[in-house]
Amino acid sequence: MKHTRYSAVIIGSGIAGLYAAIKLRKEANLPDGLLIITKSQLIESNSKYAQGGMVCVMPENKLDSCTLHIEDTLKAGAGLSDAKVAEFISENSARVVKELQNLGVDFDRDENNRLKFTKEAAHSVNRILHAGGDATGFCIENALVKYLMSDKNIDVYEQTLAVELLTDSKNINRGVIAYNYSENEYEVIESPVVIIATGGIGQLYKYTTNPDITTGDGIALAYRAGAVVKDMEFVQFHPTAFALTEKGTMFLISEAVRGEGAKLVDEDGFTFMEKYDKRLELAPRDIVTRAIYNEMREKGTKNVYLDATHIEENKFEKRFPTIYATCREYNINPAKDYIPVSPSAHYFMGGIKTKVNGTTSIEGLYAIGEAACTGLHGANRLASNSILECAVTAFELVNHLKMLNLENNFVQDNKISKIIETYEAELFNDSNSDAQNIIKEIKLLMWENAGIIRNGEKLNKAKEVLENISKEFSYNYKCPDRSNYEIRNMLTIAKLITSFAINRKESRGAHYREDFPQRDKIAKSQELSRFAGMKG
Ligand code: FAD
Ligand code: SIN
Repeated sequence: MKHTRYSAVIIGSGIAGLYAAIKLRKEANLPDGLLIITKSQLIESNSKYAQGGMVCVMPENKLDSCTLHIEDTLKAGAGLSDAKVAEFISENSARVVKELQNLGVDFDRDENNRLKFTKEAAHSVNRILHAGGDATGFCIENALVKYLMSDKNIDVYEQTLAVELLTDSKNINRGVIAYNYSENEYEVIESPVVIIATGGIGQLYKYTTNPDITTGDGIALAYRAGAVVKDMEFVQFHPTAFALTEKGTMFLISEAVRGEGAKLVDEDGFTFMEKYDKRLELAPRDIVTRAIYNEMREKGTKNVYLDATHIEENKFEKRFPTIYATCREYNINPAKDYIPVSPSAHYFMGGIKTKVNGTTSIEGLYAIGEAACTGLHGANRLASNSILECAVTAFELVNHLKMLNLENNFVQDNKISKIIETYEAELFNDSNSDAQNIIKEIKLLMWENAGIIRNGEKLNKAKEVLENISKEFSYNYKCPDRSNYEIRNMLTIAKLITSFAINRKESRGAHYREDFPQRDKIAKSQELSRFAGMKG
């Protein structure tokens, strides 16, 4: 197997990974170079599909302040957000936006060239910057990809999976094993710094807004290596995915459409949010999602509708060009027709426990972006806080790393040799034609038993089925292909989500238990490591 060495390796090329890479190259001394490993093409990521925007508290937005933004974040987080983290991220928002602009990101402006701010659920003021109308993620990701491609000093491996973290017998990070699935080749990458920026877990659910790269790989690798994971029961379901999406990832109808005044209605055009929350369509995401789910369950329908007919067609097209084009593909004219919508798995509040500078419980292993759990989002993320968190954690990680000596002094101990041997060995059983069926089974099981409305019986059933699938799934280390690596990771994450959800005998934020509908007086996060067990 080929061995290479770098000063730092970044796994993942969403906004967190790319921004960290560009800043590291500019600001840190990297004697052995920098590598990005990414599962698909460089641009493919959750980031690319982000629509609504990025929160930024800017001095020129007179109605806003960090205090207000922190308050909104903590309220949405339902008692579990970390106030200090929220403060740090809010206070650094204008700084990272400035840097992104310098890297080529053009946020939308009005006719007087002033930045435009929009609103989404649970924000008390307009404070969300957007780009390309409803293509914020694509515009940021595209600018970062272009910038990075112009720098010949960053190596990039596409179509390559990180499949195993190399930690030594003292549990210090020493690198990662990568698998190029298009060439069927493995490589040992030795590096004192490994940064996980692998995004979320949406693909564990039958219905999701996330693209197919989101199988929780980085979180699963880190957990198996002994890192502490946190808040794993909190999966955010977006209320309004486009219900006509035919297969695969559900296309999103951004919350910003409700921010611009669209109403949720049933098939007869009657609004229903007044039955659930006085903030109506702009109540926190978990409340709107459960309201829609409840309406669908009571009426036996597959979706509800979004009525945006108050917005003139040319205005809708200009403000939401991607949504408009997709609706038109399905013969829906948002200025005249209701848009069919239903909830979908969207974002993971849990992940690898980190500080705001990405440090994890394993020395030399870092995590940023959606794969990390800094404590910002608590039990429920405030809309458009994720891209902001990606940027601020990448920014602070680089501030941390540039103070360190990043020379690669790799030493291979017995533990690492043993791990490498398992990947050098031929696979005893090298085909698993059933992979796609196993993936479908996991996704349906998670949707039905660990989804929007949970209960102990369903969660325990999910746990039992997952244990059975795991027993039959025979690949503990090396797998025959990408799908089987993904199954391995999906099983790890699915088991973690269900065990955390079984343990939380209350309803809080995105975790709703019909057998425990009350919220406990005291809010407590749960965390787990393979070595120290469960806390909280
Ligand atoms: P990602 O952008 O998901 O990138 C992960 C990267 O890791 C990818 O490059 C992937 O290929 C790679 N990867 C994964 N596994 C492996 C592996 N094993 N080996 C190598 N590489 C791997 N948030 C907001 O703040 N505002 C919004 O408006 C918004 N809208 C959204 C709309 C949609 C449809 C979706 C899906 C999400 C939205 N979000 C939004 C959430 C936000 O986009 C994500 O949380 C954020 O972009 C995550 O960025 P990231 O860099 O952490 O991960
Ligand atoms: C959206 O545009 O509705 C998504 C925003 C987010 O997930 O933060």
